[in-house]
Amino acid sequence: MSAISRLKYGSPNRFEAFSWYFMRVSGAVLLLVAVLHLLIMHVWYGVDAIDYRFVVGRWASPLVQVYDLALLLFAITHGVNGTRWVIDDYIHSRGWNLTLKAALYVLTVIFILMGATVIFTFDPDTSTTALNTVAAVFAR
Ligand code: HEM
Repeated sequence: MSAISRLKYGSPNRFEAFSWYFMRVSGAVLLLVAVLHLLIMHVWYGVDAIDYRFVVGRWASPLVQVYDLALLLFAITHGVNGTRWVIDDYIHSRGWNLTLKAALYVLTVIFILMGATVIFTFDPDTSTTALNTVAAVFAR
């Protein structure tokens, strides 16, 4: 984040210092968690083995649920904080700056709730295909 943006849209306070460190720490965590995810899903199992049942079936294990939640939370919070920096650096109209960041935070909450709900509430025995699940929701 540039010094000008910091002065305009927020003081160089403790939150910004925390946010700077957070990007380093979450980047290091992502390096481990995201690369391991890639290796497990795309090298070990391989894309041919991955279908809807396989994905929801993995969540029968609490360890996989926690792992996927960590991947979700770190990727979203890291990505959102980085996007917040980009908005502060490039969007200098105060109205647009606030509007975009408000939209970003609303989407963040929605995506975290959606992701966590899917990870923790899916029942692989009753959900055979994505289409069936969508149909079941509309049939209620
Ligand atoms: C291996 C995984 C990753 C590592 C090691 C990593 C590392 C970093 C670091 C160190 C920064 C700070 C750069 C700076 O201060 O100028 C950063 C910025 C950023 N990261 Fe990541 N990151 C990773 C994955 C991701 C993912 C998955 C996303 C998107 C969801 C993302 C989105 C961003 C954004 C938007 C920024 C701000 C860019 C900017 O300031 O111009 N990163 N990343």
